Amino acid sequence: MTRKDVVLAATTVILLAAYVNAILDQQPSYVKTCKIKEPREIFVNCSTHSVQELFNYIPKGVPEIGLQTLDPLEVPVINILQGGGGPVTVNASLSNVTVKGFGNTKILHNSVDPKTYDFYTKLNLPRLRIDGHYDLLGRILVIPLRGKGTCWFDAKNLEINVKSDVIMEKHDGFHFFNVTKVHVKFSIGGLKLHMGNLFDGIKALEESTNAYLNANWRPVAESLNPILTRTIEDIMLDILRKVFDNIPADFFLGDLDP
Ligand SMILES: *[C@@H]1O[C@H](CO)[C@@H](O)[C@H](O)[C@H]1NC(C)=O
Ligand SMILES: *[C@@H]1O[C@H](CO)[C@@H](O)[C@H](O)[C@H]1NC(C)=O
Ligand SMILES: *[C@@H]1O[C@H](CO)[C@@H](O)[C@H](O)[C@H]1NC(C)=O
Ligand SMILES: *[C@@H]1O[C@H](CO)[C@@H](O)[C@H](O)[C@H]1NC(C)=O
Repeated sequence: MTRKDVVLAATTVILLAAYVNAILDQQPSYVKTCKIKEPREIFVNCSTHSVQELFNYIPKGVPEIGLQTLDPLEVPVINILQGGGGPVTVNASLSNVTVKGFGNTKILHNSVDPKTYDFYTKLNLPRLRIDGHYDLLGRILVIPLRGKGTCWFDAKNLEINVKSDVIMEKHDGFHFFNVTKVHVKFSIGGLKLHMGNLFDGIKALEESTNAYLNANWRPVAESLNPILTRTIEDIMLDILRKVFDNIPADFFLGDLDP
């Protein structure tokens, strides 16, 4: 993966519009408070459990903070454009996308930098299944691809490392984590996929291409990594902003300086 590919990878994720955003002034039951000034290992254990409790709750959706259901997550459009040079050149869009699996998120580690308040989170998703309509023109590995139709991707055992850049702010009588950017690194333990109606439905080509992509899932996943990384970053930033723009940091960290 060259640097150029990463720079050229661009995605646009359009999530469903939020209903209302409103600051919660009472501590919600799904937010467990930790003390950042406690010894490191005690704090990390507490915040890991706290984020796990949050992720046990929020996949059902939290309308009062404008957060849609996350499992299944409905995404109207994902646009993907990645220029030449590397193993992937694609111009694709995915529409009417359904993503299943965020409800089983396992938080393996969460810590908060005591100076910058940046978050470091390590999580595992046993399974992530994406269904949608695709419209694709491009090349993955050595294969030219063209088509539009239904598709699915089924990944297992995703390990995701997330660093969230945070600015601590004060307004409305509370502290807030302003999450400005997320940086994602991830690996997957397996991938099955299917693209229907490839090459406008020339069946023999469609079947042999799908078989080839599945047999070579590891380099396929590797080559799609910059695109998938950007997509996961866009989705996570949207989710984290809805959570932390509306739930005061004081409910997560009980010992912030006034
Ligand atoms: C970690 O936190 C959990 C939940 O608060 C608690 O039950 C457990 O005893 C803690 N473990 C350690 C080693 O402190
Ligand atoms: C990508 O595809 C869309 C829709 O077919 C088209 O409008 C756009 O010009 C394409 N972009 C590039 C860079 O080929
Ligand atoms: C996506 O869903 C909308 C609303 O259900 C529908 O109008 C549209 O035709 C669908 N698009 C595709 C590509 O299936
Ligand atoms: C978060 O910080 C960015 C960059 O400083 C700023 O543009 C934005 O308005 C802030 N958002 C909120 C909700 O305070």
